[in-house]
Amino acid sequence: MIDHELHALEGIKETAIRMALHCGKLQLESFRSNNIGIDTKSNVYDVVTKVDKACEDYLLAEISRLYPTHSVIGEETGQHLHADSEWAWVVDPLDGTNSYSQGLPVFCVSIGVTFKGECVVGVVYAPYLDELYTAIKGEGAWYGTADNAKANRLHVSTKHSLQECVVASGFPYDKATHPINNIREASIIIPQVRGFRRMGSAAYDLCCTAMGTIDAYWEYNLNLWDVCAGQLIVSEAGGLVVPLCENRKISIIAGPENLVQLLKEVLAS
Ligand code: IPD
Ligand code: CA
Ligand code: CA
Repeated sequence: MIDHELHALEGIKETAIRMALHCGKLQLESFRSNNIGIDTKSNVYDVVTKVDKACEDYLLAEISRLYPTHSVIGEETGQHLHADSEWAWVVDPLDGTNSYSQGLPVFCVSIGVTFKGECVVGVVYAPYLDELYTAIKGEGAWYGTADNAKANRLHVSTKHSLQECVVASGFPYDKATHPINNIREASIIIPQVRGFRRMGSAAYDLCCTAMGTIDAYWEYNLNLWDVCAGQLIVSEAGGLVVPLCENRKISIIAGPENLVQLLKEVLAS
């Protein structure tokens, strides 16, 4: 990458980090309070809070103030497209809302910035844990905290067999009605791995996969805002993110190449 392009991406990343930290502050202000304003969306399993909306409103306002020509795709307010812009910010203002609404600590904000459709900057911040994950395309992926964003470089797992692995996945909100609900797949995988985790945040699952604290991850029926930043963070940590099936929105397997291949074989069995 040429220097001035990298400089521009560094600037975007710093802005995205600042926005993510602010969302984290908003999330913590109401966490475990009786003032989160919980509501449901597609069905009773799919929840949203006032905090999801407040974070997205803040992100939209801040992006359009600083980058008025850039498009924004947000989970809560949809697409705000600028026809001639090559840039888009893909934001999940609060990933892991179900856990958040229960007072469970794994939730985060996810900000991916795409150029000509390809994610070039990814930032995920989990405020309760004070864990910050960032990547710029071609420049590696990093783990840190609000005070020290680049504490450590991320690398995916180096394990070789599924028996040694702790893997993560999730279950779609239409699990009660859709035949591809991951229950058959989970029941095949769980006996073959050392551990299975359902952490409730796809963005955080991907960051853990980038760090190797989760060896590999798969999930069906995700949306772009769930995975945009996390996918870049995984690939910049030396991992692979591959499609799992064509007809269930975004369905992916992520991890080091060898484990992705092993999971793929087991999931297809
Ligand atoms: C959800 C989380 C969850 C995944 C769901 C997502 P939300 O996002 O990432 O882990 O299983 O598919 O929709 O609703 O908390 O932003
Ligand atoms: Ca989400
Ligand atoms: Ca969300």
